[in-house]
Amino acid sequence: MTGFPHSEAANAPAGRSEKDRVIIFDTTLRDGEQSPGATMTHDEKLEVAALLDQMGVDVIEAGFPAASNGDFEAVVEISKLVKNAVVAGLARGNPKDIDRAGEAVRHARRGRIHTFIGTSPIHRQFQLQMSADQVYENVIASVTRARTHTDDVEWSAMDATRTEPDFLCRVVEAAIKAGATTINVPDTVGYSVPEEMYETIKMLRERVPDADKAIFSMHCHNDLGLAVANSLAGLRAGARQIECTINGLGERAGNAALEEVVMAIKTRGDRLPYWTNIDTTMITRASRLVSNVSAFPVQYNKAIVGQNAFAHESGIHQDGVLKNAQTYEIMTPESVGVRASSLVMGKHSGRHAFREKLKEMGYDLGDNAFEDAFNRFKDLADRKKHVFDEDIETLVDQEIASAKDRIKVLSLTVIAGTGGPQKATITLEVDGKHYTAEAKGDGPVDATFNAIKAIVPHEARLPLYQVHAVTEGTDAQAEVSVRLEENGKAVTGRGADTDTLVASARAYVSALNKLAIKRDQVHAQSGASGA
Ligand code: KIV
Ligand code: ZN
Repeated sequence: MTGFPHSEAANAPAGRSEKDRVIIFDTTLRDGEQSPGATMTHDEKLEVAALLDQMGVDVIEAGFPAASNGDFEAVVEISKLVKNAVVAGLARGNPKDIDRAGEAVRHARRGRIHTFIGTSPIHRQFQLQMSADQVYENVIASVTRARTHTDDVEWSAMDATRTEPDFLCRVVEAAIKAGATTINVPDTVGYSVPEEMYETIKMLRERVPDADKAIFSMHCHNDLGLAVANSLAGLRAGARQIECTINGLGERAGNAALEEVVMAIKTRGDRLPYWTNIDTTMITRASRLVSNVSAFPVQYNKAIVGQNAFAHESGIHQDGVLKNAQTYEIMTPESVGVRASSLVMGKHSGRHAFREKLKEMGYDLGDNAFEDAFNRFKDLADRKKHVFDEDIETLVDQEIASAKDRIKVLSLTVIAGTGGPQKATITLEVDGKHYTAEAKGDGPVDATFNAIKAIVPHEARLPLYQVHAVTEGTDAQAEVSVRLEENGKAVTGRGADTDTLVASARAYVSALNKLAIKRDQVHAQSGASGA
């Protein structure tokens, strides 16, 4: 089978046909979200899914419905929300998982069940304690069951790259016969090398009867830093789906990075004669969003989306780029959505100009959200000499994220310095009421968090506190991420301000809002005063 039978019509670039099209299967919300600490809230998952859909991702793996009620609900809501992409739900090879996934994705315009079982000797013996024949029977039973829910069924041979070739052919043949329309060949442990990956796909396509009835898919982990290279090697052997994540998020060292796969295909059409449906100008925005909601910073020199990906430091390079950008740039920053840092507006800019700016940046805010964002912009412009696009982006993202918050930071005063102990006085609005508390701490951040805790008592642990500057300069906004963990639930809050302590307070409060502190926990305590 060539092409993507379930996709919306996509326009092939000149000289490319449907058979050269690579289906982009994004698993940021499943494999990505599975990585330790990258947990996203329900609303964050929806926000990411909407953006993936908008940027032209073909298949969005929205979660693992049997894993928890939260996962199930997220897959249901994403199924309802997504307009173009196929929505996939993951399921182990058992009836309960498969039925749960079927129940979740039936709300999608086009839903897929992605079912899997480990096929390698090590998985069969130690993880599953099943014989090869039992695994073989499981493949037939699970694909057959999944087909009772949808005709779009993907089957994965987990740890395929460490599976005996003959057995791999046998199970892939069984899956296709039972009705799988996509066959995924995961390099689950990131062990393969490109030539080997090419040979595995080639072997399967040559040896398995009716191999052309399914699309072969790559799902490569990055333990040896080869995930993208391995995925691309599979294309040469006839695979036409790549499973990847924004920023390469994923188990352990992560999955193949979507932005690298897509830009390699776009930039090296001479060697990689394929195409994807991705609007590459949305890549930077997607990267920022996923980094923010997962609180996984993007390394500075990360390909495509790192802060330095288009920065030229050495004199020789700068000279060359000024004369002709192509001397040191193989793709333009604009092609991945990096706008030249432009001075937007100052404190005299009015509503009209601000609304135009937001429109140009791709935001469409309702009237109330617009007013709040505009007020925050004016406040920022009063305190910061140059307001850049990045500042506006951070500010609006914060506004959207905090729109429904029950707890808000109203004011903060901190006494800090060498003298110690540091002291913070904070006023919060909680469900419309004002509370003030004062606390000491080991440093100004600790004092601020203690003051918040005095108003909103809780037992959450704080495994992560992280600060980064949105732009250059000592008046730059600080963007702070705070992760809190309570009863096995982890959430990440973000806050931004030119004052790092105010940003920290906002981030902490944002995390508390996400923990959905019960109403009776939100009250004045130990010296906090209500109003
Ligand atoms: O890495 C892997 O094998 C997986 C499967 C569930 C496809 O994530
Ligand atoms: Zn994986």
